[in-house]
Amino acid sequence: MKFFVDTGNLKEIQNLVPLGIVDGVTTNPSLLAKESGDVRLLLKQICETVQGPVSAEVVATDAAGMVREGRELAAIDRHIVVKVPFTREGVKACRTLTGEGLRVNVTLVFSATQALIAAKVGATYVSPFVGRLDDIATSGMDLIRQIVEIYENYGFTTEVLVASVRHPMHVVEAARMGADVCTCPAAVIEALFKHPLTDIGLERFLKDWETAQASRVTG
Ligand code: G3P
Repeated sequence: MKFFVDTGNLKEIQNLVPLGIVDGVTTNPSLLAKESGDVRLLLKQICETVQGPVSAEVVATDAAGMVREGRELAAIDRHIVVKVPFTREGVKACRTLTGEGLRVNVTLVFSATQALIAAKVGATYVSPFVGRLDDIATSGMDLIRQIVEIYENYGFTTEVLVASVRHPMHVVEAARMGADVCTCPAAVIEALFKHPLTDIGLERFLKDWETAQASRVTG
C-alpha cells in the first residue's frame, strides 16, 4: 500500500520524505488555504520534494472551468494529478482530462456508485472520505471494502485512495482490505511508528549494554 501525505505544508513533507515511506501528497483547497505564498510555487516545491504524485484540486464548478484549471495545474509539474470533485460536472471534466492523458483524482466520494462512475470515466485515483463518513455514524471502511470488491470484479485500474484518514486503525484496515493508497495527515504517519514496547525494549538493550561495558572496564 502506498502512503501519501495529506497536507499542503512543505515543512511537514520535507520532514517525512527522508523516512523513505512517502509515495505522494494530496492537497485540497482547505489545506492550501492554511499556507502562505504563491500556490503554484508551493505545488512545484512539493512536487520537487516528493518526486511522486501530488494531487492539486480545481475550484471551478463547471466542467469547462475544471478542464481549464486542470490543464493549468498539470502544467506546473509532471507529478501533478488533477483533483476534481465528484459532481456531474466533475465526471465530465474527468473524462476530458483523462482523454488528454492527464491523471485525475476524483474526490469527495461517499458511495460505491460514485466510485463505480469515477472508474468508468478513467479516474487514476478515487478518494473515498472515510473519516467524514464515520463522523455521521456510517462506516467509512465498509465503503472501502465495497469499492475494492467492485473494482476487482471488473478489473478497473483506478486506484482506491483512502482519504479523510483520522487514526492508525484506518490505515491498518485499509491495508487489510487491499486499498492501493492511504493518504494520511503527518500526525497519523508519526503515530504509525509508535509502540511503547519498542521504546521500553530499546531502553533495556542500551542499559544492559552500558552495564556490561562498565563491568568490563572495572573488572
Ligand atoms: O484530502 C481530503 C481529505 O483527506 C480531507 O480529510 O480530515 O478534512 O475529512 P478531512
